[in-house]
Amino acid sequence: MNETPQPPLPSVRRLVEQGAAGLHRYPDNTAGALLAALAGRLGVPAGRILVGPGSAGLCQHLLQALGRPGAGAPPRTGVVHAALSFEAYPLLIANAGARPVPVPMAGYGHDLAAMAEAVGTDTRAVIVCNPNNPTGAVLRRAEIEAFLDRIPPEVTVVVDEAYREFVTDPDVPDLVELARDRDNVCVLRTFSKAYGLATLRVGYAVVPEPVAATARMVGAVFFPGGLGQAAAVASLDPAADDELRTRCAEVTAERARLGHRLRRIGLPVAPSEANFVWLPLGAAAQAFTDRCRAAGILVRGYPDHGVRITVGTAEQTDRLCAAVGDFAVTHLPAAVAR
Ligand SMILES: Cc1ncc(COP(=O)(O)O)c(C=O)c1O
Repeated sequence: MNETPQPPLPSVRRLVEQGAAGLHRYPDNTAGALLAALAGRLGVPAGRILVGPGSAGLCQHLLQALGRPGAGAPPRTGVVHAALSFEAYPLLIANAGARPVPVPMAGYGHDLAAMAEAVGTDTRAVIVCNPNNPTGAVLRRAEIEAFLDRIPPEVTVVVDEAYREFVTDPDVPDLVELARDRDNVCVLRTFSKAYGLATLRVGYAVVPEPVAATARMVGAVFFPGGLGQAAAVASLDPAADDELRTRCAEVTAERARLGHRLRRIGLPVAPSEANFVWLPLGAAAQAFTDRCRAAGILVRGYPDHGVRITVGTAEQTDRLCAAVGDFAVTHLPAAVAR
């Protein structure tokens, strides 16, 4: 599920252990300390930040809030998203009372031109995943800006940056920066991946002020929980920066090594800016997934499309490569294997 292989930061772990003594207390319902810490780090007013139960939970919450029409306005039901992208989107969209509008990919990435074309008068939002799960592809500054310029102001663009911390390409924009001067862009981020807090369920969103106001009215109360809030605040402490940077650098170095090793054994690997790699194996995806499973390794197979492999430790890379060393020879025609 694209978690990091590293355990929580020692400072965060200590805090959570100590927090066990206070489990009988409700968390701060305003998440005040966390909002203040995020506002400080991002340079965004706390009133424009939402926190919630993971970025997936927050995505659903946002889509629900965006569906509240103003007085007399017709309902907007369509939510445009790329296919193949995060598999939860169609479910989150449906749960928010909306209708998924999937738009096929252009290669490994979003087809932004087609996604802009798919926007109509009943479009509630467009979701853009950058880097994209499961392909690892990124959208760069110029193309995102041109895309945002094409989207009508009454349609919200939700940019999911769950894997932002693993991006090494300097041409990939920080959407929080880019959205500063736009009134229809929301940015989703999470503490689940690079920060290693997946089990605590803490995500945040930077949104336009009116969206924040509506979302606060429809949001679940007492989320995130107290341990999640405390752990997220501790993760944002500048004292943790070096350690987090080192950990992300370890992951991206291992991503490069994993990609190199897989290519050397003849497997196709898409360029990735996230903490996973995508193997466009087509019809061989299921056989690859089965081979891994038989070796006790869980990868994410997308039948007839490909396989997503989360970057793990060097030892895990070696184990995987040993398990699939002859796969290209036994399963792939030469044209696909290079
Ligand atoms: C693109 C994307 N967005 C959001 C999430 C959900 O993360 P969270 O744990 O913050 O809900 C994931 C998790 O896999 C993801 O891949």
